[in-house]
Amino acid sequence: MTKQVHLAAHFPGVNNTTVWSDPAAGSHIEFSSFVRFAQAAERGKLDFLFLAEGLRLREQNGAIYDLDVVGRPDTFTVLAALAAVTEHLGLAGTINSTFNEPYEVARQFASLDHLSGGRAAWNVVTSWDAFTGENFRRGGFLAQDQRYERARTFLSTVQELLDSWRGDEVVADEDTGVFLTDPAAGTFAHSDAHFDIAGRFDVPRSPQGRPVVFQAGDSEEGREFAASAADAIFTRHGTKEAGQAFYADVKGRLARYGRTPADLLILPAATFVVGETDAEAAELAAEVRRQQVSGQTALRKLEEVWNRDLSGYDPDGPLPAVDPLVGEHTVAKGRASVRMNRDPLAVAKDWRERAEAKGLSIRELVIEISSRQNFIGSPTTVAEQMIDLVESDASDGFILVPHITPGGLDPLVDSVVPVLQERGVHRTEYPGTTLRDNLGLPPLGGVRVA
Ligand SMILES: Cc1cc2nc3c(=O)[nH]c(=O)nc-3n(C[C@H](O)[C@H](O)[C@H](O)COP(=O)(O)O)c2cc1C
Repeated sequence: MTKQVHLAAHFPGVNNTTVWSDPAAGSHIEFSSFVRFAQAAERGKLDFLFLAEGLRLREQNGAIYDLDVVGRPDTFTVLAALAAVTEHLGLAGTINSTFNEPYEVARQFASLDHLSGGRAAWNVVTSWDAFTGENFRRGGFLAQDQRYERARTFLSTVQELLDSWRGDEVVADEDTGVFLTDPAAGTFAHSDAHFDIAGRFDVPRSPQGRPVVFQAGDSEEGREFAASAADAIFTRHGTKEAGQAFYADVKGRLARYGRTPADLLILPAATFVVGETDAEAAELAAEVRRQQVSGQTALRKLEEVWNRDLSGYDPDGPLPAVDPLVGEHTVAKGRASVRMNRDPLAVAKDWRERAEAKGLSIRELVIEISSRQNFIGSPTTVAEQMIDLVESDASDGFILVPHITPGGLDPLVDSVVPVLQERGVHRTEYPGTTLRDNLGLPPLGGVRVA
């Protein structure tokens, strides 16, 4: 059978510097934006809408990084409201396992799954920085390996709580006055190094029983966690070569946990620019890149490597002659990219050489080195690029990230999705009622689902 292309939609947020500054962009906070975005995703028969989460606004040079997104409503509140204005679309929320507690997260997902008729998904993230932790008065709470240990036991504890209801306990028999058949419904007891809790869980079993589980970390621990416990991975490895390596690596880990490759979907983030022709799309893509990397953003990007205040530099001039400050990062706070620039002196040397060789200004260099859109072209070109990546096992589909909200998804839904449907690789109707059904994931084993 032809491999299907799974598609999902990421409500654009951080890392997307035109979210609010583009004249075509709307609010990323008002509910009407979420509604328009979700309804476009459902029109295109996408699997789910994905909300990332940041628990602290990023800062640079001690100020809010205002070309990034500023302000983010609470995930569960938004998803619950969207459940009421959509019918089939999965609702995936990023929820942190370092700063929350299993009982409250289990209640929230069970409630969302009830309200949405079985469409809830949980992207389990650990976060890594003490900067975010300060909001919870925990600061650098837990080293990375302990965060994953906590994530693992957090997830299994949430699942124990959800499984404390089998799904057949509520009889509500008016004649006998019996509401529950099983007096032990919802009872649980869990004790380990992180959680010591016992009691009774207060939400009866929801349509999916458990939310679909996503994972988004990329480290060795993160990949192993995904192989052991996730239904899907949200990854940055969106090119063919990197995607194939990641796909083989992670799917290769599944057998250790008694799982098969079909049990875990690999879904990279994908940005796109669609035009009527390839040439028009290329022109538009170049324009978007220039908008995304304004002079101000170019300097901020450089500061993430230089670890110095570079606001006095001219973005249309040459790169700084001064070297980056090595050591603790004090300039850019809350950014994962800071962790990736492991050798700032080598990165700065490489960038200077590239800029000198081509005569590039700071802004031109940043446009060149920061990633361009994954898919650029006419609807047919984009559809064929997507099919090629999925057929060559670089991914099982894509989590689409438009560059503006709320209308950025429309061109893809209205022009690329029909081509994918014609080629028989994307559905024309939702096949099931729950997200798990629509993702084609195997049913939950062992536990009875209501
Ligand atoms: C594609 C992608 C998206 C992510 N989205 C979020 C997010 O929305 N919120 C968050 O707190 N962490 C997010 N993360 C961070 C990771 O989930 C993880 O907590 C962090 O990267 C540390 O794990 P690692 O060392 O295994 O990468 C994301 C990571 C990736 C790769």
